[in-house]
Amino acid sequence: KKKNVVFSGIQPTGVPHLGNYLGALRQWKRLQDDAQRTGDRLLFSVVDLHAITMPQEATALRIQRREMLAALLAVGLDPDKGSTLFFQSSVPQHAELMWILSCTASMGYLSRMTQWKSKLQMHNKQAGLDDAAMSKLKLGLFSYPVLQAADILVHRATHVPVGADQQQHLEFARECATNFNHTFKDVLIPPQTMTTPSARVMSLTHPHNKMSKSSPNHRSRILITARRDEVRSRVAGAVTDGLNAVTYEPEARPGVANLLELLSQCREGETKEEEGGGEGRREVLSPQVLADRYAAAGATLRDLKADVADAVWRELDGVRERYLDFLDRKGGKWLDEIEAEGAEAARRNAEQTMRLVRHAVGL
Ligand code: ADP
Ligand code: NA
Repeated sequence: KKKNVVFSGIQPTGVPHLGNYLGALRQWKRLQDDAQRTGDRLLFSVVDLHAITMPQEATALRIQRREMLAALLAVGLDPDKGSTLFFQSSVPQHAELMWILSCTASMGYLSRMTQWKSKLQMHNKQAGLDDAAMSKLKLGLFSYPVLQAADILVHRATHVPVGADQQQHLEFARECATNFNHTFKDVLIPPQTMTTPSARVMSLTHPHNKMSKSSPNHRSRILITARRDEVRSRVAGAVTDGLNAVTYEPEARPGVANLLELLSQCREGETKEEEGGGEGRREVLSPQVLADRYAAAGATLRDLKADVADAVWRELDGVRERYLDFLDRKGGKWLDEIEAEGAEAARRNAEQTMRLVRHAVGL
């Protein structure tokens, strides 16, 4: 069987929160576990070139790249277990392929994509580009889907784990590959989506919104490096409602539903570990089943919150210590070395593609 190549990227936003972890990083770790058996190739990139499509402060960006890399290692991604970890900007082939792809990518397609509109806060999605919007819109923000396509295609990734909100970007990447192959030569591989089953983690203070780094309210999220008392107090402070009974009603009681989701997801991780990672043996208690059990036992929201805090803490156990250790090892040099090794491997992989690409184009 031909081996899969999995690529995924994450922005250098510093320490990830529980939403990033349950929605992406834990999935990556599971792919790494599976790769021990399948021999699949995994590439995970801290996509710093994407970060600069929005204004950044240089010192902060430098720190946040390192923090994200240390966090990826702390959740268990490991170069010795087949995961290639690197900063996107360390592999210039990404930007080179982007330029070449942009010469066959359609402006019309890009202008129909929604993300640049939401970042410009153009709430009226029909509005199109008037002069004012046009001068605020930077070329990089408009064309970053082409860079995202290059990130994937330059590594000949066959599979890309993405959330539902990223589907249109993957579709665009396939389009870029097809356009290139049609215009020049059949060298790029249109990637497949790997849908991840995990639910969205909602904000602890505004449970109608997803947990996000961009919320100014620190109590809305739990960082994966939180101390035990922080986990407890964040969960204890989660906004619910006046009712004390536990029910699973995502529409009417989003805060309570979010706690049940968190409990379900964090306990899922535990079960897997206890059973030695055997496939198909992972017993997941759904939020609904959990709610029924609390109701049957006459338990309160307070009981639920205590259990959620424990489950989150168990899921994150050791992450904080590893994170702090990795950031500081050899006065920070250890992390540089890990990144340099990952970048070297990624460059080698990308260069194989670029040789074919340049030749196909006549460069
Ligand atoms: P943020 O929403 O905090 O800006 P990103 O957009 O950088 O986070 O997302 C990084 C990864 O984490 C993506 O794969 C995204 O789907 C996932 N993710 C982010 N927030 C959540 C959430 N609240 N629940 C589940 N997954 C999330
Ligand atoms: Na986001």
